[in-house]
Amino acid sequence: MRVVLVGPGRAGMSLAIAAAAAEHDVVAVVGRSFDSAERGADIVGATPLTVNDPIPESDLMLVATRDAAIEPVAARLARHPVPVPAAVHLSGLTPVSALAPLADQGIAIGSFHPLQTLPSPEAGAARLAGSFIAITAGPGLQDTLEFFADSLGATPFSLDDPAKPIYHAAAAAAANFPLAAFAMAADLFKEAGVPWDVARPLVEAVVANAFELGPRAALTGPVARGDSETVAAQLEAVASASPEWQVAFARFVDLLASLTGRADQFAAVLNKEDQ
Ligand SMILES: NC(=O)c1ccc[n+]([C@@H]2O[C@H](COP(=O)([O-])OP(=O)(O)OC[C@H]3O[C@@H](n4cnc5c(N)ncnc54)[C@H](OP(=O)(O)O)[C@@H]3O)[C@@H](O)[C@H]2O)c1
Repeated sequence: MRVVLVGPGRAGMSLAIAAAAAEHDVVAVVGRSFDSAERGADIVGATPLTVNDPIPESDLMLVATRDAAIEPVAARLARHPVPVPAAVHLSGLTPVSALAPLADQGIAIGSFHPLQTLPSPEAGAARLAGSFIAITAGPGLQDTLEFFADSLGATPFSLDDPAKPIYHAAAAAAANFPLAAFAMAADLFKEAGVPWDVARPLVEAVVANAFELGPRAALTGPVARGDSETVAAQLEAVASASPEWQVAFARFVDLLASLTGRADQFAAVLNKEDQ
C-alpha cells in the first residue's frame, strides 16, 4: 500500500517504520514544520511535506497527531483535494468523526489504535508485531485496515465508536495503574534493603496468571485468604517504615477486600467500622 503519514511523532513514526519494513511504500511524511517532516521522511525514504502542501496520491492516510489536533489538521488538509480513498487517526479515545473534513471529500474514515505503548519510533515499530490493534471503521475500510494490521504482524480487532471512551479507560487501567503498585512495592522493598529486580519473576508470574486464570481468580495473598492479622501487621510496617505510602497501601487493601467480597471482614483493620 502507498501510505501517507501526517504527524511524525512517536506513534506515527512507529507505524511508518513498521510499514516500510513490511514493504509498504511510505510516500510522504507530513509535519507541522518542514524540519520535523524531513527528519521523519529521511528514516523511511519518503517525501517531506507540511500540512499546507497538497497530499500526493496514495492508498491510506495515517493522521497521527495528538488527539486534540486531529480535527484541525484534518480541516487544514481538506483545504486541498486529498487523493486518498481512506484516512484513519490513531486515537483510542477520539471518535472517528474527528476526520469529518476528509469524509466530506468522500474519503472513508476510521481509527486504527495500537493497543501498545510506543515510546519512541524504533522501540514502537519493534513492538507493533505481536500487538493488537483496535479498528473502528465501516465494512469496506475495515477489510483494508485488517490487511494493513496483519501486514505489520499485529492482530486487528473491531471496536465500536461509542465504546471508545470506556475502552480507552480500560487500556489506561491496564497500562498505568499497575505501575502505581510497582512504584509503591519498589519503595517498600528498598526500605527492606532488597532490590526491586528480585520481584521480576513474581511480577511476571502474576501477569501470566492474570491472563491464564483471569484477574480475579489470579488473586493470592493475605487479603484473598482473609488473613486480617497479617494485613494489620503489614499496615503497621508501612506506617512506620514508609508513611508516605500508608494511605495508598490501605486503599489497595480496601480495593482488594471489595474485589474478594471481604469488605466487612477488613473494615476493622482499615478503621472503617464507624464510617
Ligand atoms: N505513543 C503511544 O504510545 C501511542 C499508542 C497508541 C496510540 N497513540 C495515539 O497516537 C497519536 C499520536 O500520539 P504520539 O504519542 O505519537 O504523540 P507525539 O509523539 O506527540 O506525536 C504527535 C505528532 O503530531 C504532530 N502534530 C501535533 N500537532 C500538529 C498540528 N497541529 N499539525 C501537524 N502536526 C501536528 C507533532 O508534531 P511536532 O513534532 O511538530 O509537535 C508530532 O509529530 C495520538 O492520537 C495517540 O493517542 C499513541
